[in-house]
Formats: sequence, structure tokens, C-alpha cells
Amino acid sequence: MNGIALQCPCCGARQKMRALVEDCSACGANANPRVTYEAPAAVRWHEVDGSGPGLWRYRRMLPTADGEIVTLNEGATPLLAAPRLGRALGVERLYIKDETRNPTWSYKDRLSTVAVSAAARLGAKVLATSSSGNAGASLAAYAARAGLPCVVFTFAGTAGPMLAQIEKYGAKVVPLARKQDRWPMLAEFVKRFGWFATSPYMAPVTGSHPLGIEGYKTLAYEICADLDGTCPDWVVMPVCYGDALAGTWYGFQELHAAGAIDRLPRMVAAEVFGSLGAALARNLDHVPDMAATFAPLAVSVGATQGSVQALQVLRESRGVAVPVGNDGLIEAQETLARHEGLFGELTAVMPVVAIEHLVRDGTIGRDDCVVGVVTAAGLKDLDKSCGSPEAAAGVPGTFDDVSRFLSDTLGFIPARAG
Ligand SMILES: Cc1ncc(COP(=O)(O)O)c(C=O)c1O
Ligand SMILES: [Zn+2]
Repeated sequence: MNGIALQCPCCGARQKMRALVEDCSACGANANPRVTYEAPAAVRWHEVDGSGPGLWRYRRMLPTADGEIVTLNEGATPLLAAPRLGRALGVERLYIKDETRNPTWSYKDRLSTVAVSAAARLGAKVLATSSSGNAGASLAAYAARAGLPCVVFTFAGTAGPMLAQIEKYGAKVVPLARKQDRWPMLAEFVKRFGWFATSPYMAPVTGSHPLGIEGYKTLAYEICADLDGTCPDWVVMPVCYGDALAGTWYGFQELHAAGAIDRLPRMVAAEVFGSLGAALARNLDHVPDMAATFAPLAVSVGATQGSVQALQVLRESRGVAVPVGNDGLIEAQETLARHEGLFGELTAVMPVVAIEHLVRDGTIGRDDCVVGVVTAAGLKDLDKSCGSPEAAAGVPGTFDDVSRFLSDTLGFIPARAG
């Protein structure tokens, strides 16, 4: 791939473009390198022509600008005004970026399409990841699309719709007996066989492959395009390692550098165990590993430690981190679904809880323009949000029985039309 390189965010040293991203060979920093482009953002933005499937309309801003791409027509998801939810939360201008509509029903497709396109270009023969969740399902789909084998390292005991989804795409799932073995094992296979790993595999975590993270920049481009070239005040996202938070922020920075927007948003990380919040509060230069004090309902973001680049984004954007535990999460899922007709995964609705919190404590103002990113669909974790519902006994099919069922069992009194 011409014109791009990887650069250490700490010392600026250039690194070779390759499948395995390790600690910086110049300064030893344990931080994900950034992709740098020969042409500045302003020039590339000028060349965006609006054609291409989904997010590939912005291909001039991506590492795989020229040549073949592996796509399922991801991105270009709607930014929906959410006035009823906004009123319930106390914000006038609330928008939901509906990422449930991506090809594998999560925003990880933005990462996968770019990472797999790049991997194919770099001659990768096998794709691999250590996620049995949305990232794994997404990679498995794009591997199938590229005609490449995919190996997913997971740990014994993981189950649920996402694992089933991964297997349906034909990926090979390796459940390791000890959870902590999956990253070193992935790294070993990458080193020995040149597999292309899209997920993190280092501890402390540095994040996913930097080429894939570039795909998330398109979230920023699409949000600003749908807001008629303006920038929201706040962008609120569920955060695990913070790949998407970082990628989206880079997108806003590029738009700003290109003169397409005149200011930048403040980024909000809704996180489970509060590692980014702890780093901010204690003014740390690293992100502490927190104790897993409960079993999170938001299984997709249950890691105890975010990445350094996510911390940098919160600092640069004057952002905030909001801890979101299990309390209120199912209610938030139902509030979003019932007010706006959008059914998100429990992880994906964490922004609803975070926005409510930030409005209540006065951080987000009533007139602010707020975008909540709903990152995956509610069918992904039905086992967590609903358990296994018992089959309801049938209602006898007479008008009186059904009317009584509506009013007595469901509490709904039918109104006469007209
Ligand atoms: C639905 C969903 N939302 C958000 C995230 C957070 O991802 P990141 O590691 O980019 O912060 C994940 C990660 O797996 C996810 O599956
Ligand atoms: Zn360095």
C-alpha cells in the first residue's frame, strides 16, 4: 500500500507496515502506532468524491484507497433524530447513530472491512482474532467474503448468539482452557505463520490493528455530513479498549484539519469498570487495570482496562468517562426501544445511561447537540437481556377473552377509533 506508514505516537518513529504490531522498536512504547498518510488530510478530503459502497465513499481518507476492497456495504448508517428519548433525558437535540444496521449488526464492520481489505493487500493467508463477540463475528464474515480462513481464539465457556454467528460464517473457533492464554497464543501464531490479527493480543492492551481503527474515522465523517457539515457538541460511545473512540476522534480531527468543520466535539466513554475515568481522576499517564467487581451485563465491553490512546482522546477532546454498571441497563434498552423504535444490545445502549447521568449533573447542557452511538443490535445478546422466556399459554380466541387478556394481563385498554 503506497503512501502510508505506521508511526509511534510517543516518539514519532516510523514502523514497517505489517501484520504484527508490537511495542515501538525505537522507544519501547506500549502504544498502538498511528497510520500516517503521504498527503495531508485537507488534500485527501478535497478528493472525496462520494461514490463507493457504504463507508467506501470516503476511501480517499482510508489506508486502502486504491485497488480491491472487501466489502459488504457497511457504514452509511442513519443518524436518527431522537426527540422523544431526548425529552425523556432532558436534551433538546439528541441523535442516535444507528450502527445496528451494519452487515453483521455491529459497528465492528467498519474496522473489519478496512482491516481485511488491507490484510488481503498485504498477502495475508489467514485472518485471526481473539474475540468471541462482535469483533469476532464481524471478522468471520469479512474473511468469508474475502475467501480467507479465519481463526477465533476464545476461552472455554463462552456461548451465546455471537459465538453461533461466528461459527455460521465458517470460522474456526479455538476455546482455550485458560482465558489469559488467548492473547499470547494469537501472537505466537501471527509470528510463526504470518497470520493477520485484527484484535489486540498484548497486555497491557494497545488496541486493535491500527489499519482497522482507521475504518472508524468514517463515523465522524458520516455524523458531520448528516448534521449538514456541523459538528455535535458531544459524541457518546460504549468503550472497551477504546479503538472506536480513538478512530472516531481521528476522523473529527481530520475534518477539522481539512477545514470541513470549525470545531471539535467532546468525546464521552461509557465504560464498565472505570479504568479511563480512574486515569483521568488520578492524572495518570497509563490506564490502570481495575478489579472486576461484578459480572457485567454489557458483556461486549467487560474488559477491566482501556488503552492509552483512548485516554489521550479523552484528554485532547476535554472528554469524560462515565462508569455504567448493570443498574438501569435493561431499562435503558427498553427506553430506547419504546421511545424511538431502536433495539440495541445491552452494551450498545450504555450511551443512554451515560447521557442521562451527564445531563443530571449539568455536564451536558439542555441545548447541546448530542450524538449517542448505538453500536450493535439487541438480538446479539438476547440471552443476557431476556434469559429464556417461557412459552406463554395461548389465549382462547374469543373477543371477550382477548379483550380481558389485553386489559387484565397486559394492562392495555383498547381505545375506540374515531
Ligand atoms: C457492541 C460494542 N460496542 C462497543 C464496543 C467497544 O469497542 P472498543 O474496544 O472499540 O472500545 C464493543 C467491543 O467489543 C462492542 O462489541
Ligand atoms: Zn516510539
